[in-house]
Amino acid sequence: MLLKTTFSTHRLLADRLQFEHLEKLCIMHRDPKIMATLGGIRSDEQTRQFLQNNLKHWQDYGFGLWVFRDKADGRFVGRGGLKNTYIGGKNEVELAYALMSEFWGKGLATEMGETILKVGFEQLALPKVVCFTMTTNLASQRVMQKLGFQYERDIIHANLPHVFYRLNAPVK
Ligand SMILES: CC(C)(COP(=O)(O)OP(=O)(O)OC[C@H]1O[C@@H](n2cnc3c(N)ncnc32)[C@H](O)[C@@H]1OP(=O)(O)O)[C@@H](O)C(=O)NCCC(=O)NCCS
Repeated sequence: MLLKTTFSTHRLLADRLQFEHLEKLCIMHRDPKIMATLGGIRSDEQTRQFLQNNLKHWQDYGFGLWVFRDKADGRFVGRGGLKNTYIGGKNEVELAYALMSEFWGKGLATEMGETILKVGFEQLALPKVVCFTMTTNLASQRVMQKLGFQYERDIIHANLPHVFYRLNAPVK
């Protein structure tokens, strides 16, 4: 299944991750407020590696991260998508999202997540998607709950306590 390279949500435009997004990602990854819940700030070199890994993910699996822009003025809002990950001793597909802080608190992560999950369940026919975050990241946990994820267990990830949530594909 070849996914479309762009799509839109009510307020956002999504573009499949490309090398040209490096500068925007570097700006995001240099911001300590955003990165506090994502393992801390990253150097531009680490972001370049992150981008290379995620471009390879697209090549290997045919899905991955998108970059989201504000429909109204084109501003970079954030990144989000689906990633294969090995967690809790199993291979899973993870929903990932991160927004520039000026866009927090407007329901945009939930809006991104809803559309990404639709792609995951309807186009990729995934049986389930997982999501996990630090126990202290209450905003992200709330996003998961609003998207319908169910808390499954506490886990240690990257040496830090996390909560692990799961969402099964809707029954047809
Ligand atoms: C977590 C994050 C994605 C949330 O994005 P967002 O666009 O603000 O999310 P939404 O507006 O869709 O929903 C946030 C919800 O959390 C709630 N919330 C925010 N801060 C909270 C807090 N400290 N405690 C409890 N709930 C909180 C909001 O009230 C909202 O819930 P509501 O709609 O019921 O009122 C954003 O803060 C972010 O990018 N953080 C940095 C990266 C990150 O942590 N990514 C997730 C990694 S798993």
